[in-house]
Amino acid sequence: MNERNDRVFSGIQPSGEIHIGNYLGAVKKWVELAETHECFYCVVDDHAITVEYDPREMPRQTFDAVLTTMACGLDPTRCTVFVQSHVPEHTELTWLLNTVTPLGSLFRMTQFKDKARNALQRALGQKKGGARKSALYHLKEVGAQALTLIDAARPDVEALDPEAEHTDEQIAELVSRINDRMGEMMQHLQVGLGVSQASTALFDYPVLMAADILLYKATLVPVGEDQEQHLELCREVADRFNRKFGEVFPTARRVKGAAPRILGLDGSQKMSKSLGNHIGVLDPPEVVEQKLKPAYTDPRRVRRSDPGRPEICNIYSLHEFFTGGDRLAELAEGCRTAGIGCFDCKKTLAAGINRALEPIRARAGRLRANPDEVLDGLEQGRRRCVEVAASTMEEVRAAMGIGRGVIGRGAKEVERGD
Ligand code: TYM
Repeated sequence: MNERNDRVFSGIQPSGEIHIGNYLGAVKKWVELAETHECFYCVVDDHAITVEYDPREMPRQTFDAVLTTMACGLDPTRCTVFVQSHVPEHTELTWLLNTVTPLGSLFRMTQFKDKARNALQRALGQKKGGARKSALYHLKEVGAQALTLIDAARPDVEALDPEAEHTDEQIAELVSRINDRMGEMMQHLQVGLGVSQASTALFDYPVLMAADILLYKATLVPVGEDQEQHLELCREVADRFNRKFGEVFPTARRVKGAAPRILGLDGSQKMSKSLGNHIGVLDPPEVVEQKLKPAYTDPRRVRRSDPGRPEICNIYSLHEFFTGGDRLAELAEGCRTAGIGCFDCKKTLAAGINRALEPIRARAGRLRANPDEVLDGLEQGRRRCVEVAASTMEEVRAAMGIGRGVIGRGAKEVERGD
């Protein structure tokens, strides 16, 4: 398959505003790829409902996300833009792929663990009241129970000798006791990680993502670095499916965007909608300036006269995307020699960001005034998706021996007495 035949798929969640991390990590690349490839871009509302959300807010958030991606440059006449829940085959394929997805692989997903642990972290982060103490007591108790279970399982594990001549009854008894203890231990550990209260859907999130990609047999996936582990899972699931049911799915690989990982304005974590450390692509100019003022810089630059280190400064790393060549070199030099202060450096960055975001804001304004243009684009996208999705699902169901397409074959075999 040559590059031009590669199909592109990517998605974005509708929870929260689209920020410059999303733009530089993924969406800018989406726009470029739409010039050369067949592309499917999706606002993933089915993913967004895997955590707490307000159903009354969801339609507006989803529409906003679609409008913003279009304002960023996605043209529905040149690529397929759609909303995940408008194509129900995504969830159907998820269920079918679940059958070839090992539980162990899902437990390794760091994003699930991070999201699931958030509740526990929030409790631990509380300085006042009993929440923190009771979370710590709870952890201690859960940990102690897990240790007791390990001790209890030890004699059975040691007694199990794969080379020895155990009777069937002995084996059944040992295996059942070990399994019971391990099962209980798993439960305790999950509670310890804050996992047990997370929804099954959150756990299954990466399989839905694999289904998104595989439904369109996409081979190129433009995403930020944080999605690499999910893409690996997608490849594992496709491979297991192909080995079990025959070659249906291609291998999907990541396409890097301009920036694999943009740090938030706090300088410590990745820029993220939920952490409030972001600059939205639709933030007005004065908001961009306001948000940059307190943003984290080189911590050694305490006074205006202290020389700075642009190579470790998050503000400088943003300049690399928003400020042109010569000016960039001047800024680095000015920082190193304390020729310019952080205040002015941030002002220049705000101007660069605002220059880059201006056309996006303008298109967003125009689309807000013409919502039908967005809705028509979506409907056009949905139709194209349904075509491709129906064909893949027919192939998948037939390979797995289910669905209307193969029941006739079953009837004939019964008739012949096979
Ligand atoms: P989401 O909505 O978290 O992010 C959308 C895209 O933006 C990238 N990104 C970043 N890149 C650089 N720096 C950052 N600080 C940053 N924050 C976010 C993400 O890597 C992503 O590319 N699970 C996905 C959505 C999804 C998807 C898919 C993607 C669902 N199905 C199928 C690709 C293929 C997500 O939550 O993205």
